[in-house]
Amino acid sequence: MDTLALKDAMASTAEALERVLNPILAVPDGQEARLYEAMRHSVYAGGKRLRPFLVCASADLFGVERQYSLRVAAALECVHCYSLIHDDLPAMDDDDMRRGKPTVHKAFDDATAILAGDALLTIAFEILANEITHPDPRVRCKLVEKLAKASGGQGMVGGQMIDLTASDHMLDERAIFRLQNMKTGALISFATEAGAVLASASKEAHASLQGYARDIGLAFQIADDLLDVEGNADEIGKAVGKDEDAGKATLIGIMGVERARQQAQLLADQAIEHLAPFDDKASLLRAVAHFAINRRT
Ligand code: IPE
Ligand code: IPE
Ligand code: MG
Ligand code: MG
Ligand code: MG
Repeated sequence: MDTLALKDAMASTAEALERVLNPILAVPDGQEARLYEAMRHSVYAGGKRLRPFLVCASADLFGVERQYSLRVAAALECVHCYSLIHDDLPAMDDDDMRRGKPTVHKAFDDATAILAGDALLTIAFEILANEITHPDPRVRCKLVEKLAKASGGQGMVGGQMIDLTASDHMLDERAIFRLQNMKTGALISFATEAGAVLASASKEAHASLQGYARDIGLAFQIADDLLDVEGNADEIGKAVGKDEDAGKATLIGIMGVERARQQAQLLADQAIEHLAPFDDKASLLRAVAHFAINRRT
């Protein structure tokens, strides 16, 4: 699988995702229109749409209909965009640029950004609970439960809490892995496992995808931290060089750039090993493991 094939597949999933989200995020007539404009500012600012792609690619392993996987992908991208809006707030990372545009609190104001995040989080569960997402209510319930867990205090939000309270050199390697597994890995794990849930797949399939997701989640966050050190702000659409100044606990902080890069490579290789049971069907997921660490944005 070459990188061009992955690029094409990611672009077409991104387009389909945006079509699904468009009516869901339609701007209403009332005074709450501003809220929807802020939500759209975040969602329609581009972004790699990696998590939606993972949902669709993992669902494809089991032949799940694309109309279902795209709904789950849409719900997850809403949670991801909410997490970015709140992550950028002055009380958190205090960032002015995201996806090449002013952050939501810069383009609107802090209160609107908080509310836009809240509304994106809640709409995600509305999307999952709707029967268009899957005919079996048990499957929809499982998706709701898993996305709630991945997003909450033992997942992304818990990881964000640790990220904000842990200063540089306070955490050892194990603790940094735990932090990154929560703040970034949890939503990525939901993405790949959702395919197995939609298909009511076997325990073994769930376990393989969990193993894969855990490794690419960690590799993906190490790559994000490397881009903060070595990336170009215009290219990645957000500020660089902020983690060290903010005293963020990252692997780079404790082991340096070179060893962190090796660690990311090791994790990507390990992720690919978990895909062995899926043979050729998993070639796009294998390509994602390379993309997670070699990306420039
Ligand atoms: C940024 O995520 C936040 C992290 C968890 C590292 P992405 O790098 O996937 O951001 P977008 O969606 O492409 O903008
Ligand atoms: C953010 O991690 C993870 C989230 C849950 C949003 P970062 O703070 O490193 O993400 P960027 O670098 O701002 O995208
Ligand atoms: Mg952050
Ligand atoms: Mg940030
Ligand atoms: Mg970062």
